[in-house]
Amino acid sequence: MPKVEKDPTPESDGPEVILTDGENTTLEGDTGLNVGKAVKQQLDSLRRSGLTCLPKGTGQYDFSFDEPPPEIAPQKSPSRLPNQRETVAKSKIEESKSEYSSNLPQPLNPNTEPSRVDSTPTIAAKNKLASVQSKSVDLRPYATPLGLAERQTALQVLQEEVAGCVQCEELADSRNQTVFGVGNPNARLVFLGEGPGANEDRLGEPFVGEAGQLLDKIMGACKLTRSDVYILNTVKCRPPANRNPSQIELANCWGYAEKQLETLQPEFICCLGSVAARTLLKTTQSIGRLRRQFHSYRGSRVLVTYHPAYLLRTPSAKKHVWEDMQLLMKEMGVDLSN
Ligand code: URA
Repeated sequence: MPKVEKDPTPESDGPEVILTDGENTTLEGDTGLNVGKAVKQQLDSLRRSGLTCLPKGTGQYDFSFDEPPPEIAPQKSPSRLPNQRETVAKSKIEESKSEYSSNLPQPLNPNTEPSRVDSTPTIAAKNKLASVQSKSVDLRPYATPLGLAERQTALQVLQEEVAGCVQCEELADSRNQTVFGVGNPNARLVFLGEGPGANEDRLGEPFVGEAGQLLDKIMGACKLTRSDVYILNTVKCRPPANRNPSQIELANCWGYAEKQLETLQPEFICCLGSVAARTLLKTTQSIGRLRRQFHSYRGSRVLVTYHPAYLLRTPSAKKHVWEDMQLLMKEMGVDLSN
């Protein structure tokens, strides 16, 4: 079990990190040939973990983020035709969907998107973007909860819909498969991650790589197993080269996670990393600001913490995650003392 250490900077936004090229050289002082590439990789990975801005001229990261996200460039709708697997999945969905979708939010069905030839966003695309960029968190109460069998069926139907999704052309073309979510449909606690990586894309299950093994350890320290919880991602396809999902990809995909959450109606949601937290809570704040307190999403209580992939790169942040998990377990009534 992780040791609880006192946070040396309890009021800070998060751990401070010096950006180096691997030899403890700060950005400002280095003119090496590989610096551009190294910096880009470093920035990409830090951004995935919640970093959003660099203070000018210091060479140090500031983990606070109070500015709005960058403007969204309109994207073309998918132009490729669905493959056979996707077409079969779609027709299966059509058969079974009507029975189980009555008390769920309307799906973001790619079939309802008009085909496009220019780059002007359609009204549907604009609505989806507006929904993912909305200024305020969704606090509508959940609908009447479903029984276990109904939940399982609703999730199965949705999983097939997701498997046939081609809304994001690049992701649909590059994925091996969609990664829907796993776990107990009656779970009190849902973990919300960012998006599949290479291992998840290969195996079709969230958090099965190195970050997933760390998540298993975190759960173990909380006396939880995968069968106690439900694990899902904010986007269901692997962004190529593990880049961050774009705003339009988040907008296209978020409706699926919303429907999963509507079906699961968990008491607690733990957001892993800034993509999950910002998308769910409709905020631009840093993990450092969002963690250590409960937020609300619909009927669920939401705790935000660092992403396990960030912990792999920054082990010193593990103590923060352990503090967050202790807070969550206390609230859930889980006794961690023995
Ligand atoms: N990171 C995530 O956010 N999700 C996964 O499924 C794997 C790694």
